[in-house]
Amino acid sequence: MSQGNMPYFNYLLTQLERHNPSVETSFGRHVHWGYWADPRTATTEDADYAQAAEQLTKELCALAHITENSRILDVGCGFGGTIASLNETHQSLDLTGLNIDGRQLARAQALVQPLHANAVRFCQADACDLPFPDEQFDTVLAVECIFHFPSREQFFKEAFRTLKPGGRLALSDFVPSRLFLPFTRGASSERFQKFNYFGHCNVSHTLGHYRKLAKATGFELEVAHNITPNILPTYRYLQRLLGAAQGKQAHEKNDGKSDALVALLTTLGKLRLLNYYLLAFRKP
Ligand SMILES: C[S@@+](CC[C@H](N)C(=O)[O-])C[C@H]1O[C@@H](n2cnc3c(N)ncnc32)[C@H](O)[C@@H]1O
Repeated sequence: MSQGNMPYFNYLLTQLERHNPSVETSFGRHVHWGYWADPRTATTEDADYAQAAEQLTKELCALAHITENSRILDVGCGFGGTIASLNETHQSLDLTGLNIDGRQLARAQALVQPLHANAVRFCQADACDLPFPDEQFDTVLAVECIFHFPSREQFFKEAFRTLKPGGRLALSDFVPSRLFLPFTRGASSERFQKFNYFGHCNVSHTLGHYRKLAKATGFELEVAHNITPNILPTYRYLQRLLGAAQGKQAHEKNDGKSDALVALLTTLGKLRLLNYYLLAFRKP
């Protein structure tokens, strides 16, 4: 099976192999943006970033109303950070992490050992073709990964099919404003390939599209929190991390492409043109 074409994971896996202490701390468990309840308190320290990344997971899981004895599927599970967090804070959960990339799953498997009578397993598959029977899960989570999937609609259909009635899908995503939408459509064009650090990314789904998608697939949209102000310090941290990497290893410098991308994301976030949302949907 394909490992997905995500150059940033090649970078992270190489740095983790080399035991880069910054990358191990900030992206060794969660591979997503941080959440600061008060963004003014953010520093650019690795440990502060790691704590903020953990907090983003907690904010998202809170929307899913997870209770004891639940069956949880975390799609696009990365290095298993969300599964690890639930495993540490809950008991008697049945936890499945799913990812398209076997290299990430190998790290997840090594990092997460079941605690508190939880069951933990990992599975290699495509989020748009879930290898599970109907009505298996109480919760489906998708933390900062849906923009990579071949189709949001197909993933929603699969999440709906595999959720029990009353179950929830909770996810986080980059959501453009309507004003910015026409520009996101060009993001996969040739012109932007030089920024192709993140691989296939579709960030052309507005909140209006999510409302329509929920209706078309049978979900009720329960929560749509725009948390853009709370994630913005992520970009300052990334600038610091990438700057340090380039300073140390000039031969690995990528001509400032990643710096330019981070600067662009900062501006788009500050102008609320590309927002970060936590979304929760309920299967009636
Ligand atoms: C930004 S990372 C987020 C990882 C994890 N959810 C976290 O928060 O730490 C995006 C993840 O989506 C996964 N992914 C991309 N395309 C996928 C697909 N079609 N099916 C399953 N996982 C996919 C990637 O391998 C990666 O682990």
